[in-house]
Amino acid sequence: MNSAEAPATAPAPATAPATAPATTGLKIRRMGVFLGAEVTGLDLAQPLAAPQVDALRLAHAEHGVLVFPDQKIVAEDLKRFGRYFGTLSVHPFSTNAADSPELIVYDNKEGNPPAPTDIWHTDETFREAPPMGTALCSKVIPAVGGDTAFVSMSAVYEGLSDRWQRFLCGLEAIHDFKPFRSLFPNDRDGIQKMRHYEDIYPAVTHPLVTVHPITGKKVLFVNPQFTLCIKGMAEDESRMILDFLFRRTQIHEYQYRHHWQPDMLVFWDNRCTQHSALHDYYPQRRLMERVTIAGTRPVSADPPADPKDLRRYLMPPLAEFRARGQAVKRQLDT
Ligand SMILES: [Fe+2]
Repeated sequence: MNSAEAPATAPAPATAPATAPATTGLKIRRMGVFLGAEVTGLDLAQPLAAPQVDALRLAHAEHGVLVFPDQKIVAEDLKRFGRYFGTLSVHPFSTNAADSPELIVYDNKEGNPPAPTDIWHTDETFREAPPMGTALCSKVIPAVGGDTAFVSMSAVYEGLSDRWQRFLCGLEAIHDFKPFRSLFPNDRDGIQKMRHYEDIYPAVTHPLVTVHPITGKKVLFVNPQFTLCIKGMAEDESRMILDFLFRRTQIHEYQYRHHWQPDMLVFWDNRCTQHSALHDYYPQRRLMERVTIAGTRPVSADPPADPKDLRRYLMPPLAEFRARGQAVKRQLDT
């Protein structure tokens, strides 16, 4: 039996030995209890060997967030790093570099405030196949502020009571690019453009509880930025359940808060984490470069729930009461 007060599972000691084989040269040091690890012993300005990539792929899944300090790399190095793990994807709503659409440059400073990323989210779950990971590299860091908070969604799932876990089995949620809708002005041209994006990115359904393809752990896969509602459920029930689940990310024990230094690369696993970028530094300057690695469709931990189980009556059918012998006979009943 788990609760908010009890850790999701008994964590291994924070001094757990490195998981990478010694021959790879990687040193992995855990930084958070449920997620976050520092990786040293690599120079990402140089190509990696296949065993190093294999070790990183496992560490990424196991720790959720990998931090590579002191990496003086250029955009080409960042793109090469991302390609070790899959195809780089292009964010449809972000300010991509003109000559390299896979690269996003965030240059936030006076007059250019950050986009609304200071809300818990998993990147781009409005896609049928959301990205498997995101790699973000720091170039200019504010003197104070600008941390990124992460939370383990497998810890959030494990921290639910057995009853809640059973209840969520088989439920599905609808995700939409809703925070980006405000980018389109409410005029004829803007509405036309938004409809164009709606055709390309219609609202998608993802399981509420997914299985991580590498670790096999169950993950709670909803986030307040993109998840609209639970499919097939009455709106007020759906809202209540999602609000409850969203609040679970606020449990400190499930989080790792990352404090940036210049020339740091952070590579997170979108399949089992959420993050929120703090905007407390603005209007100081914060310059970052990002690539995103395409993923696969999230896989459900359970078969879809029977739609009949999600049905709700505004008023219980009278026949139900008759059957139990509890109905009060109304004037017109025969
Ligand atoms: Fe994000």
